[in-house]
This record gives sequence, structure tokens and C-alpha cells, in this order.
Amino acid sequence: MNLIPLSFAVLLIIAVGILFRKNRKIHIPVMLLAFVCDMSLVLYIEFSRKAVEQVISGLPSALLAFHVATSLIVVLLYLALIISGVQIVKGKTNRLLWHRQLATAFLIGRMINFVTSLYIN
Ligand code: HEM
Repeated sequence: MNLIPLSFAVLLIIAVGILFRKNRKIHIPVMLLAFVCDMSLVLYIEFSRKAVEQVISGLPSALLAFHVATSLIVVLLYLALIISGVQIVKGKTNRLLWHRQLATAFLIGRMINFVTSLYIN
């Protein structure tokens, strides 16, 4: 199954969430939707193609190893964004800078993830 259109659709959802980053009522549900979609994609790929096992056990191409590593980092950044986002909602406004910096790293990682996915067969 070609998952690239789905992955691109999640990028569009993330773009909407960024456009509405100052509007919590829109930003938070949209980003959580992107998270659920991306986790479903990652789990589907892992169970259908054993992506992590291919990297650990075989001799993966450098690109596949890089792509899988980037994907794992993106998952960790999602979790850090959710944690820092919840802290901001609870009133710890000093977490905003942290959230923004994590978001920058996340966006770079998610775009690298998409671009590298185009070159993996
Ligand atoms: C991929 C996930 C996410 C990304 C890329 C992201 C990105 C951002 C960015 C760039 C801002 C603006 C920061 C600033 O103006 O300095 C922001 C604000 C915020 N984010 Fe997120 N975010 C994500 C997920 C979440 C989640 C899951 C939550 C809550 C659980 C959350 C809660 C907030 C809050 C409360 C603000 C402050 C909004 C305001 O200005 O009042 N974010 N986010």
C-alpha cells in the first residue's frame, strides 16, 4: 500500500495546527489528530514491514537506517511536545520557549522523514 499520500495529508494537518498555533481550541485538537494519524502510520509500517527489525538484523541501506532513526526521534519529539503543551495549559508559561524549540526540531525531523520516505522502496 502506498502510504505517501497519507503521510503528506498528516503534513497538511500539522501545517493547519501551526497556522493556528495561537488558538488553543484549534491548535491542540489538530496536533493531537496529527499525532494519532502518525502513530497509526508508524505502527502499521512496523507491523507490516518490520522496519526496526530490518535495520537491526539485516544490512539496511544507509537511507533506510537514517529514515527509521529519524522516525523514532520524531515520535519522541511528539511526546515531548504533548508533555510541554499540557504544562503550558496548566499555567507553566515558561515552557512556551521549550515547546517552540521542540516544535522547530519536530518540523525539521518530520519533513526529513517525508522526503526520505520518497526514496525508499
Ligand atoms: C506536533 C505537535 C506540536 C507542534 C509542532 C506545536 C507547535 C507549537 C508552536 C510553534 C506554538 C507557538 C509557540 C510560540 O508562539 O512561542 C505552540 C503553542 C502552543 N501549543 Fe503546541 N505544538 C504541538 C502540539 C501541542 C500539543 C499536543 C499541545 C497540548 C497538549 C500544545 C499546546 C500548545 C499551547 C497551549 C500553546 C500556546 C498557545 C498560546 O499562544 O496561547 N501543542 N505550539
